[in-house]
Amino acid sequence: MDLKLSDQVVLLSGGSGGIGSACAHTFVREGCAVAVTGRDPASVQETVDAIRASGAEDVAGFAGDAGSDEDVAEIVRRVVDRFGRVDVYVGTSGSVATGALADVTPDQWLAGFSDKLVGYVRFIRHVAPVMEAGRGGSIVLVMGNGGVEPRYWELAPGAVNAAGINLCRSLATDLGRRSIRVNSVSPGPVETKRWDAAQQALAHHNHISFDDAGIVARHTIPRGTLGSAQEVADVIVFLASPLAGYVNGANIVVDGGQRVPLMDFANYPKI
Ligand SMILES: NC(=O)c1ccc[n+]([C@@H]2O[C@H](COP(=O)([O-])OP(=O)(O)OC[C@H]3O[C@@H](n4cnc5c(N)ncnc54)[C@H](OP(=O)(O)O)[C@@H]3O)[C@@H](O)[C@H]2O)c1
Repeated sequence: MDLKLSDQVVLLSGGSGGIGSACAHTFVREGCAVAVTGRDPASVQETVDAIRASGAEDVAGFAGDAGSDEDVAEIVRRVVDRFGRVDVYVGTSGSVATGALADVTPDQWLAGFSDKLVGYVRFIRHVAPVMEAGRGGSIVLVMGNGGVEPRYWELAPGAVNAAGINLCRSLATDLGRRSIRVNSVSPGPVETKRWDAAQQALAHHNHISFDDAGIVARHTIPRGTLGSAQEVADVIVFLASPLAGYVNGANIVVDGGQRVPLMDFANYPKI
């Protein structure tokens, strides 16, 4: 299927890791120019080198922190300098602290909201005017199925993701009038560095081993295996493409039909 993405300019915040890196490779295969970002300059460069090794040339890396207004403004300025415009923004950054009420300090809560939710807002504030001045655009924000299926041991990520899903729906109306679509994708467990932290929290709160927590998590997914970064990236790239032109303000859950309550041992007091 031709996604009609060739020659589009894509900016990924968090493009140097897991889901974002899979997105970067996929957009490049679809003929896009891609700008990859992340805090660690070495990881950003590694991703750019890996993409260039596949023969693509229109790829560039810009290290910076989504939690910093200055960094985000500078990244968007440099992307526009390099590629002339931005057609697609994908937010896939953020590492909100996992844990239950007593585990996460107010400072960690604030950092989680600043890095992920407000991080996306910082990027959108800068890219939306660029898209509007160009030929419109598409924004896809990676949130998480905890935003619709809460779990007490991932309290802050659930709250941040619920807020992000709400943000998308609101922005879809405002920016939709200016030819910019805004959607979110909410993954369930996906095999990346980020999932390791969630599996650790699941283990801790149920007093089971890390490996057993993995078995519990897989048991909640009907097919019995976690998702891959590529499976999430494929949905993101489709949503970003003109083929999804009538999809705006949607939150697409990509979790293999996960039955989240099965992860909550409080439902099984005799175990
Ligand atoms: N994996 C899952 O099971 C899962 C499930 C639900 C939702 N999600 C969400 O999906 C998104 C991507 O997660 P992932 O699994 O791909 O995680 P990952 O493998 O840890 O990658 C995260 C990426 O975001 C970057 N990043 C993190 N904080 C940043 C910041 N403040 N500024 C700029 N870049 C930042 C990281 O690079 P640096 O560390 O170098 O900055 C990396 O490129 C996250 O929002 C996560 O909450 C993941």
